[in-house]
Amino acid sequence: MSLAREFVMTAVAVLLVLVGLDAAVEPRHDVRNYEIFTEMVYSKAQESFGESSVLAGGVTQQELVEGVVPRGELPFAYGDGTEEAQRAGRELVNPFANSSPETLKRGRQVYGIFCANCHDSRGEGRGRVVERGMLPPPSLLAARAMAMADGELFHIITRGQGNMKSHAAQIAAEDRWKAIRWVRVLQEGTQ
Ligand code: HEC
Repeated sequence: MSLAREFVMTAVAVLLVLVGLDAAVEPRHDVRNYEIFTEMVYSKAQESFGESSVLAGGVTQQELVEGVVPRGELPFAYGDGTEEAQRAGRELVNPFANSSPETLKRGRQVYGIFCANCHDSRGEGRGRVVERGMLPPPSLLAARAMAMADGELFHIITRGQGNMKSHAAQIAAEDRWKAIRWVRVLQEGTQ
């Protein structure tokens, strides 16, 4: 056999094997298929919210180790309730107290997205959900809210107060402070 002929024969044989293999591993949906590498067919990865056969408590998602601080958020060292809110009012300082145009622009946006549905765009407490039957929140233009320090407002948004739930999971801390600056603008009546 000449070298060229031998080469062609080998190439054809290899091709036939490849085509055969391809046909063998091609999944067909009408018959039971062969599973060659079963670990690849059935992943051993466990679902985040599912059960676990190896981790503590039989669940995949484990509690954070004590002292862990999630990225981007600092721990909020104030508990629930009015006293803690007042303490926050005395101790915390709004990092955006200078109210630059960018701060106010963002604050207005955040307020419009997360607060106006209840407190309405002017802060009087006649938002859409009130129109539909929810008890109106107190006006943010009333003396009580006017007298609160920024830190107290921050506490109310972060921890919630009475019928108003915490917004800490929805609004980043920086945006909470900015929304407070916008509440101040509403209270000053310059908008
Ligand atoms: C789902 C409706 C709702 C949303 C959204 C909401 N609030 Fe409230 N808010 C309330 C209600 C109701 C109260 C009264 C709570 C209570 O004392 O029972 C309240 C109370 C307050 C108070 C205290 C007023 C006072 O006189 O005690 C402040 C300040 C406040 N909200 C600011 C905000 C800001 C800022 C946002 C947006 C980040 C916001 N709220 C989002 C319903 C809401």
